[in-house]
This record gives sequence, C-alpha cells and structure tokens, in this order.
Amino acid sequence: MNDFIDVLIVGSGISGLRAALEASKYSDNVKIISKLPVMRSHSVSAAGGINSVSVSHDSLNSFIADTIKGSDYLADQDAVSILVNNTTEEIKYLESIGVNFDKSDKVYSANKLGGAEFSRALNSSSQIGLSIMQRLYDEVKRNDIQILENWHVLDLIHKDGICYGLVAFNKDHNKIKSFFSRIVILATGPSGHIYSNTTNSTNCTGDGVAIAYRAGAYLKDMEFVQFHPTSLIGSNILITERARSAGAYLFNKNGERFMTKYAPSSLELAPRDIVSRSIINEIDNGLGLKDSKYGDYIELSFTHLSDSVLNEKLSDIKDMTSSLLNVDISKTPLKIIPAQHYMMGGILININCETSIQNLYSAGECSCLSVHGANRLGGNSLIECLVFGKIAGEQISHYDKNTKVNVNSIDFDEYVGRHTEHYIEDVKDSLNNIDLEYVSNSCAKLQSLMTSNVGILRTNELLTKALSELSIIKTQLLSNNSDNTNNSEYSVFSYFELLNMLDVAEAIISSSLLREESRGSHFRLDFPLRNDKDWLSHVLVQLSNSNLKTSLEPVIINDIFPDSRTY
Ligand code: FUM
Repeated sequence: MNDFIDVLIVGSGISGLRAALEASKYSDNVKIISKLPVMRSHSVSAAGGINSVSVSHDSLNSFIADTIKGSDYLADQDAVSILVNNTTEEIKYLESIGVNFDKSDKVYSANKLGGAEFSRALNSSSQIGLSIMQRLYDEVKRNDIQILENWHVLDLIHKDGICYGLVAFNKDHNKIKSFFSRIVILATGPSGHIYSNTTNSTNCTGDGVAIAYRAGAYLKDMEFVQFHPTSLIGSNILITERARSAGAYLFNKNGERFMTKYAPSSLELAPRDIVSRSIINEIDNGLGLKDSKYGDYIELSFTHLSDSVLNEKLSDIKDMTSSLLNVDISKTPLKIIPAQHYMMGGILININCETSIQNLYSAGECSCLSVHGANRLGGNSLIECLVFGKIAGEQISHYDKNTKVNVNSIDFDEYVGRHTEHYIEDVKDSLNNIDLEYVSNSCAKLQSLMTSNVGILRTNELLTKALSELSIIKTQLLSNNSDNTNNSEYSVFSYFELLNMLDVAEAIISSSLLREESRGSHFRLDFPLRNDKDWLSHVLVQLSNSNLKTSLEPVIINDIFPDSRTY
C-alpha cells in the first residue's frame, strides 16, 4: 500500500521550495520530489536580480507598464498585476528568513535591467539565486519537509482529467514507484537543454511540461523562447545583464555601438528580444567579428569603465572571465553571442496556479499564466517563482483533508497515460535495451535542429523541416533497441529526459508554425510585423487522442492597450 500524500511538489528550485513552505502551513504531509539534490537546482545560478519597486519615482504602475510593454502586449494583464502587487510582500518574506539584499545606507541598491524605466533589480552579493535558495532550503529543513532526491518523475497518474499522483524512477536504487497525492504541483523549471546553445544547465529538460502535456494538460505560449543577448562564444556561459546595466557596451567589427540604430533611447538596455535580434542582424549583415574556432561574435566591452565600477559592481564577471578565459575585462572585450535562456511558455495555469487537469498545479518557469507574454524582462523570473510558488502551495487549504481518496481502487496500469498497460515492464525493459550512445546522438541531433531551425529568426520552411526531422528522431529513438545490459541508472535518466525534450520541442515548433506574425521573441522572417488584428491571442497546445492540437485564447487586456514598442 502506498502512502497517501497531501501535497507532492515536483522540483526543488525556488518555486518548488516556496510552494512547499506555504503548503506546510496547512498540512504536515507535504513532500518534494526532485531528480537533483536541492542545491543543484537551476535557480542557484540566477545572478541578475529580483525585481521590486524600491527607488523613488518608481511605482507599481510603472513596473506593470514596463512588464506589459516588454511582453510585446501579449502578457495577460490580470496576471501581471498579481505578480507586481505581491513583490513587496515576497521581498519582506525573504528578508524575514535571512536573505540579505545589497543596501547602501540602509537603502536597497537596485540595478536597472533591460526594458525597465527605473532601477528595480535587487541583488545579494551578485548571487541572488544562491542566497534565496540557501535560505529557503534552511526553512524547508527547519519545517521537516521531506525531500525525495534523485527521483525522476516519469508520468502522472490520471484519469478523466483528474490527477491522482505520479510514477517516478529512483536512480540510486533502480526502483520505480507510484506516489498518490491529493494535489501535485509541477515546479520543474526550464527546458533550455533542447537547444545546443543555451545558458541553462544540462538538467533543464522540460520534464514537468512534458509529463503535463502527456497527461492532456494545455500548454500555452510555447513559441516564445527567450535568447539572452550575452553569452560567451563556445561555452554559452551567461554574462549577466548587470554588465550592461553597469555600463558595458556592445560593438560590431567597425567599433560601432550598433544599438544606437535599433534602440536609440535604451541602447544596450532594451529588452532581450530586441538586443538579441540586433546582434544577429549585425552578424547577418557581415558586421560581426570572427573567432577562428567558434565563428561569428559581437564584442561586449568594459574597457571604458572605471576600476571602481569593475570592482564594486562586476567583480563576479571580472573574476570568472579572468580564471576561465584568462581575460582581463578592463583591457579586453568579451566575445559574445545570444543563447537560449528562458521559456516564456509552459503548462497553462490560471491565477490560482491550477492547470487544466484537476488537482494538478504548477508554478515557475515550467508554467505559463502568462505574466511574461512574448518576452520576459530581466529580474521578473525569480519574483514569479516566489509569488506563484506561494499561491500554488496555499491551494491545499481549499481541500478537505478528511475526504479520503481510496488509492486502493486506483488501478495503476489503467491510470497512467503513456504506457497504459505494462508501464513498469516497459520501463524496466527500457533500462536494459537502451543504447545510450544512440540516445546521446539523438539528443545532439535535436539540439542542433532546434538551434538551426527554431532560433531567433524563423520561417515556415525552417519550422516545417524541423517538425519532420523531429518526428524522425523520435520514431527512430522509440524503435531503437540494443542489448546493452551495462547501462547505469544515472545514464538511463538521459533516455527519459530526451523523451521529455522531444515533446517540449514538438510543442514549441507547432506553436511557432501557427503564429504567422512577429511578436517579442518570436520573429518570423516571412511575417515580419506584429499583427494585433489577428494575433492578440495565446496559442494553446494539447495532446488529444495522441495528436497535438492547437487552439487560440484571447489575451486579457485591462487598461494598457497595444502600442508601438520603441525603446
Ligand atoms: O542577465 C541575467 O543575469 C539574467 C537575469 C534573468 O534572467 O532575469
């Protein structure tokens, strides 16, 4: 007999931990399940900042207006209001659990990131993600919330649009187990590993998005993939937007500060979609520089900045590039190129973080309300994780804990979506039959396909080709068998991850094909203009009878109407 859990949270990044802490106010039966040890969650690497209104002249209205304009008017405005109106409370909560924000004379030191009218991004010794994670994790331990680490969630247990729990595979013990839960919260973070050029870690494989999709949940805004303007060529290591906030310039091969052409007022601090597209435009016009090993790049230059700016504001970048590249940024510009960084789209949720499946909730990057629309502003991700992680966690307060769900009546095979009949046998067979070299090659093929065909500039031709090649990769993967009994449980994970990545990629490509306009991060060379008349809508995708179906949902507009988007 399986234990019955009240709240089972998948993922141990900021949104997962925040959800667990809130849920634990209402239940002492909250568990977190994660494929990684907590402090390896991708949230740890966030370095740009967390947005909150703190400087004089700034206001909640200005924050809301910036977020909506930054989204290219696709964000749902009720969602943006909830995000912004809850930021101060979340910052206070973080301080109450010990996060020390940078201050000068007791006043918050905020940075101005791209697309923001005011300085709004708070930090904590240049490692805001790590600071928040450490304190949330301390709280989770203090509250005795159980964390099941090294469990890869395979699929949801669901029937007739209701979720009852999930099936997971433990990589330490090679064990498959079902977990029944009153509610499940998916907080699994990014999907960036589907691209070969990404700032995300290799663990970011879209697991939550894929398992929700396979269970029939709607996904939303999947075509909107954010490319961060400044990653190091070769490694795609992120050079945080704080660099440009502190005054770093972008130069083309003629030494021109080319952002003057594209965003004459905001320059390097235009939103990311605009800066990334400008960089690609310069390169496509032959104005990039060339590295003999890695090809085209643009320069990010710090050489005009004073020692005090470099040492006080950018010491993390200075130290990292010195030790990693042996480059002194006070003398030599960095070679940079845009790289995939964030998914605006994800599992459709409403303002209570409910997905379209009953008892299934979601928060953070794997979800989509949508607060970011077609382009997210820097500093809005961490605050989203906290605000909506908390909202997801408090949903258990609306359940009657005395109502028993008879888990014995749930037929395991019947309730699992993907492998309806012989799920455990299927998975166990997979463990022995997977050819891991083949998996790794298929993964590389997918990543390079997404990078070349589903990047910053898209066309019908590129996307159609991507969809058909993806289908070949998937079919061949599922039919590939080998007699490799030496697979380790750790490496077998990559097979399950690749299945998830393929589902996420298919949803992105299909949504991108449907949206025949250019908006935010989605730029169609064959439809280069924004078209509010036909496309002020969200694209939804859903798996129905094993086929991907698309539909449209109108954008919620309250009082900010679409306007030209100049910076
Ligand atoms: O540039 C950065 O440090 C990224 C920040 C963010 O994604 O919000």
